[in-house]
Amino acid sequence: MSRPPSPKFTYQHLFEPATDLPAVGSAKAGPAAPLLLLHGTGGNEHDLLRLGRAISPGAALLSPRGDVSEGGALRFFARLADGVFDPEEIIRRTHALADFIVAATAHHQLDARRLIAVGFSNGANIAATLMLLRPEILGGAVLLRAMVVLDQAAAPGSLTGKRVLLLNGNVDPIIPLDHPPRLAALLRTGGAEVTAQSLAASHGLTPQDVAHAQAWLAKR
Ligand code: MLT
Repeated sequence: MSRPPSPKFTYQHLFEPATDLPAVGSAKAGPAAPLLLLHGTGGNEHDLLRLGRAISPGAALLSPRGDVSEGGALRFFARLADGVFDPEEIIRRTHALADFIVAATAHHQLDARRLIAVGFSNGANIAATLMLLRPEILGGAVLLRAMVVLDQAAAPGSLTGKRVLLLNGNVDPIIPLDHPPRLAALLRTGGAEVTAQSLAASHGLTPQDVAHAQAWLAKR
C-alpha cells in the first residue's frame, strides 16, 4: 500500500510501528490500539517509550516532543507560573498538536479512531485538552497525574463511546485534590466513560500506574 507523502511535521517525534500484527488468516483480533505518548515537563519523546511498551506490548507508538521550552525544560504549552495557565495559549497549542496528530496518523497509517493518548503530568494535561477541544482525533486517554488547566467542559455527546483512565496520587504536591474529580466531570459532560482512581502515590509514576493502565487497555 502506498503511503501518503511525508508532510512537513511540526513536532519532532519518534514512531515505533506495531509489532503485534495478526498473521494473514489468523483468528487473532486486530492489532492493539496505537498509543500517543505525551511526556511531562522536562522530558522528551524518549521518556514514555518503555511505559508504552510495558502497558501495551506490540502497539504502535507515536511520541512527539513538546515544543515549548521553559528554561530548557520542554513542555506542550507555556504556563504563567506553577499551576497558573493562559487559556488562549492552551487552546492554541492544543489545536497545533491535534493538527500534527492528524497528519502523523495519516502518514503512519494508524487507526486514528482507536488512538489512545497516554500522557504524564504536562503531557496528561494536553491529552485532556485534546479530548475536550478536539474529541474526534482520539479514541481515549490514559491521564497520569493530570489537573484542570482549562476549565471548559466537553461539548455534550462529543466523547460518547470514548474511555478515559484518570490516575492520580493521593499525596501529590502538584495536583490539588479537587482537580481529578473536576476533570472527570468536564470529560463526562461530553459522554466519556471515565474511570478515576486515586493511588497511594505522589507525582511520580509507580508500578501501580503501570498495572492499572495495562488492565484498562486490555479491557478494550
Ligand atoms: C507540570 O507539568 O508541572 C504540571 O503537571 C502542570 C502543568 O502542565 O504545568
